[in-house]
Amino acid sequence: MIRVDLTKATEVFEEGVLEEAYRIASDAFTEVQQGTGKGNEWLGWRDILANPNDALLEMISSTAKSIRSDADVVIICGIGGSYLGAKAVIEALSPSFKKRGPEIIFAGHNIDGRYLDELCQYISEPKADGTAKSVYINVISKSGSTLETAIAFRALLAELEHHEVDLKDRVIVTTGEEGGLLNSFVQHYGFRKFVIPEDVGGRFSVLTPVGLLPIAIAGYDIRTLYYGAVSVYRSYEEQPEDILRYAALRKALHDAGWRVDLFSFFEPRMVEFGKWIQQLLGESEGKEGKGIFPSVACYSTDLHSIGQFVQQGTPSVFETLISVEQASSSKKIEETVNNIDQLNYLSGNLYHEVNRLAKAGVVEAHSKGGVPIIDITIGSIHEENLGELIYFFELFTAVYAYSMGVNPFDQPGVEDYKKAMYRLLGKE
Ligand code: PA5
Repeated sequence: MIRVDLTKATEVFEEGVLEEAYRIASDAFTEVQQGTGKGNEWLGWRDILANPNDALLEMISSTAKSIRSDADVVIICGIGGSYLGAKAVIEALSPSFKKRGPEIIFAGHNIDGRYLDELCQYISEPKADGTAKSVYINVISKSGSTLETAIAFRALLAELEHHEVDLKDRVIVTTGEEGGLLNSFVQHYGFRKFVIPEDVGGRFSVLTPVGLLPIAIAGYDIRTLYYGAVSVYRSYEEQPEDILRYAALRKALHDAGWRVDLFSFFEPRMVEFGKWIQQLLGESEGKEGKGIFPSVACYSTDLHSIGQFVQQGTPSVFETLISVEQASSSKKIEETVNNIDQLNYLSGNLYHEVNRLAKAGVVEAHSKGGVPIIDITIGSIHEENLGELIYFFELFTAVYAYSMGVNPFDQPGVEDYKKAMYRLLGKE
């Protein structure tokens, strides 16, 4: 279960402020539940958990299994909500070195010709035994027309056409039910297709085939992930207090002038999860001149870079510490005979324990420096806990954005950038 400790952030508020914000957050939660808020046509991320589709999970798992048994490389081609969730979960669950199964490579999330050129070369190079690499592409775009993804897919498809393979087997499209250019590819080539439900927006889509297929291809248990989310969906429907207190506090911090929320992780493998939260919150709350800039740090690494600013710089940054209770490794600091490094006082300690005390040190020092700290803990880095955390932040984002009076589900600024770019590129 997720533990939310707000005590190190609430003490700065005068009586009544948080109570009023809590009342607003409760109303916001009712809007989410009753579907009466702005953008209420985009609440499908809740419906998919209210009515789990086991047949779809099964179909995704079996497609993934067949790809895993044949692929050397799987390219996940997508941007924004069409890749960040999958990347977050895969990075969190994967070993740091020597990954299991096919190599997973992300593409279509930048406009870097060199990256794409190197990727095309890499997939066309033979393996160590001289045989050709078996390459699959999962192209993901709800609109089916996002430029970054489309131009990468064009190059990758052209590259695959040089391989002597049946393209129909090698490309899996994840897109909207109808319309969009990816559906034209499906019609033309006969590619396999997974549908992104119409009422689920990009950044809320990790628990649809958008995230689930890549996660399953990487070898992780999507059913456990999914049902982790289902279980917290059910419990927050009945007891949303943690979400409401958290949304109320963040609104109060916003209204008091705090402008940066530094999501800090003590496990490097969770940092990509921070990038997913960053997009989820950033695109959802940052509009109408409002919002707190969501930023991501890896502690203790970044304590040696931006920690100084957080502690003593302009007082605009507060921290959301996300940590993991259970040690993910039994590695201990060993005793040495000569103790030249004078570290024997630590011997016998788990590295995890040192990390835990580093966090305690951050809480002590930064709160002394006046930095509000939100402390979120999950039990372990496991599919179930990650599923829980995904829904926790989805629901929190919706409730908090409604508390701020903005529509969490649109992104008019992104649309503006796209229009300007297309005009400059001469698109008709
Ligand atoms: O959250 C969103 O809606 C966006 O970040 C989209 O996911 C992103 O722009 C990619 O869009 P698409 O899936 O249509 O290619």
